[in-house]
Amino acid sequence: MIKVGVIGCGYWGPKLARNFHELPDASLEWVCDLRQDRLDHHRKLYPRVKITQDCRDLWASDIDAVAIATPVSTHHRLAVGALQAGKHVLVEKPLAACVREAEEIVAEGEQRGLVVMAGHTFEYNPAVEAVKAIIASGELGEIYYINGSRVNLGLFQPDINVVWDLAPHDISILRFILGLDPTSVSARGGVYVRRDKGIHDVAYLTAYFPNGVLADVRVSWLDPVKIRRYTVVGSRKMLVYDDIEPKNKVVIYDKGVEVPPYSDTEEEFHMSYRYGEAVPYPVTWVEPLRVECQHFMDCIREGKEPRSSGGVGLRVVKILEAAQRSLLNGGMREDIAW
Ligand SMILES: NC(=O)c1ccc[n+]([C@@H]2O[C@H](COP(=O)([O-])OP(=O)(O)OC[C@H]3O[C@@H](n4cnc5c(N)ncnc54)[C@H](O)[C@@H]3O)[C@@H](O)[C@H]2O)c1
Repeated sequence: MIKVGVIGCGYWGPKLARNFHELPDASLEWVCDLRQDRLDHHRKLYPRVKITQDCRDLWASDIDAVAIATPVSTHHRLAVGALQAGKHVLVEKPLAACVREAEEIVAEGEQRGLVVMAGHTFEYNPAVEAVKAIIASGELGEIYYINGSRVNLGLFQPDINVVWDLAPHDISILRFILGLDPTSVSARGGVYVRRDKGIHDVAYLTAYFPNGVLADVRVSWLDPVKIRRYTVVGSRKMLVYDDIEPKNKVVIYDKGVEVPPYSDTEEEFHMSYRYGEAVPYPVTWVEPLRVECQHFMDCIREGKEPRSSGGVGLRVVKILEAAQRSLLNGGMREDIAW
């Protein structure tokens, strides 16, 4: 049994607590939050669990690992504190609020031989795994471009803009399915609801990959309809991944266009369009967070590097920082130094 404590029990932390409570090889021992009402609620849910407002109680306890689901500005302090107390850490996305903080978390983990994992939940999503497998199989041909949308009404965050809140998912998905880091990124956005604080609530992000793939994603807290949808266009076929679809989350379209091998006159020139069938790709659904929590346990037990390791979390933060520079620079393309 790996003993786990969860810090932060607002919106996301309770889902981590539930999973660690349910996993057969994990034992949820501690729950920590600054808010007593959240602690009382968790005590009711899990009467055996110890509760505290002070993370140092977790540092001093015999737990093996800590999962951190607090506001991003607190990730660095809490993660470094946990590592210095000898605990493995799972830190919610994004790993930290800037590259320097993320580097320090990764270095602390490496120095102590402890697991540092970033909570990139979509890397454990069976539909995203399917998209990665389809791309790798070559079925779509050469990947041309990817378009994604992650929009909804809220949830507004007090300490970060929409890029730092929602785009970590998209950046981690794109890196994961393409197996590459972008070389540059640009971002344009708008500030509407939090004009007083200058917090962007909508943004259009473009990532440029070294293999020529162009990926652009819209992220917004200000949209009437929840959308979590990706289109991947290849030279042979295309696919749509819709995370909200209950059944057919991934559908492959046998559609494409070919340029005629030659044509002597303008009249002879006809593109050849292929309107083939749409075939759902089988996806066996498991709660991604459950897979993520189990992976954290496996990595601790086997001394493995997590799929979404601290190093991967750091790379995502590097891309976010470049996107933020672009956002404040009128959408200028920012190179990412790897
Ligand atoms: N992986 C995902 O899909 C996903 C989804 C939502 C949120 N998140 C991430 O989870 C984290 C938390 O987001 P949220 O929406 O749950 O926020 P939230 O504001 O709803 O909850 C944060 C909680 O942390 C507590 N807290 C703050 N500072 C603390 C401290 N020093 N010690 C103990 N408790 C403290 C607050 O009292 C609050 O209850 C963020 O990093 C966010 O990006 C991830």
